[in-house]
Amino acid sequence: MSNRLPLVLISHALPDDWIKKLEGCCQIAVGPPEANRLSTGLMQRLPDAVGILTLLTIPVTEEMLAKTPHLRVVSNMAVGYDNIDIPACTRRGIPVGNTPGVLTEGTADMTMALLLAAARKLPQASQDARAGRWTTWSPTGWLGADLHGATLGIIGMGKIGAAVARRAAAFGMKIIYASPSQKPEVETDLLAMRKSFDEVLAESDFLSLHCPLTEATRSLIDAATLRAMKPSAILINAARGPVIVSADLEHALREKWIAAAALDVTDPEPLPPDHPLYQLPNCLIAPHIGSATQYTRKRMAELACENLLAGLRQERLPHCINPEVYQ
Ligand code: DGY
Repeated sequence: MSNRLPLVLISHALPDDWIKKLEGCCQIAVGPPEANRLSTGLMQRLPDAVGILTLLTIPVTEEMLAKTPHLRVVSNMAVGYDNIDIPACTRRGIPVGNTPGVLTEGTADMTMALLLAAARKLPQASQDARAGRWTTWSPTGWLGADLHGATLGIIGMGKIGAAVARRAAAFGMKIIYASPSQKPEVETDLLAMRKSFDEVLAESDFLSLHCPLTEATRSLIDAATLRAMKPSAILINAARGPVIVSADLEHALREKWIAAAALDVTDPEPLPPDHPLYQLPNCLIAPHIGSATQYTRKRMAELACENLLAGLRQERLPHCINPEVYQ
């Protein structure tokens, strides 16, 4: 192996110009796009792999790592890394890279798109117009919720949460947030107020989730928390699907415990076409496209390649999730 370029496994086909950045530095094996696992062909090559470039849909498990005696780096083309067993990588001294910062604004834009679309019942109104149900200007048809003066609760005031807060403030919304730590900049700049999780649930007209998926946030939004929200509240999730218990959300939307939900992420992903959430007119579902802009995806790919190449050279990753591997 020592005379050959290091082998990198790439879980999904990527545009050619992204792959070109890696050619010349490594041999590349690209998998067919399988949902939610590394393809069988790539699994068989794990014993020779020196680098792995994954997407957020591909679990990197202890079991996989046990088959990778030469692995020097795992590069995830995502800011979230709940798909990777980080402690297992750290125990093996393998640095893991992610792509922070570059998708903040795109994801915040998408959050506002979801929020506005759900508030103004845009999908239903558009469908009705196409289906010939727009028969007159109706004083009572398609009435939605105002953003101006409404309270937006943000769960997780990290980079994306703060970018959403900035946009919401421009719409005249009052911002409250629950987060493990205080964020003085949003408090000073946007008059946002940090509150307890329960207070945010109870006071929000719109509740937007921006926390990472961890053991603490998995199933954070369940039947009890949905019951604690206002019946007029709209829930937005552009974080990770499993932060919400899907069956509880379905029940809450059917029973009108809350008014509506707008989801860019679901549990499971992809959400199968026969999933009951699709049947609910008060549930807007997008296929995890928060970062899907030309610019954002290009920058994510660049950062993922930079992390990968640094790892192959055994240099410190520019964006490393587990820097303790360098100690
Ligand atoms: C991420 O990078 O974690 C996002 O979910 C991608 O859209």
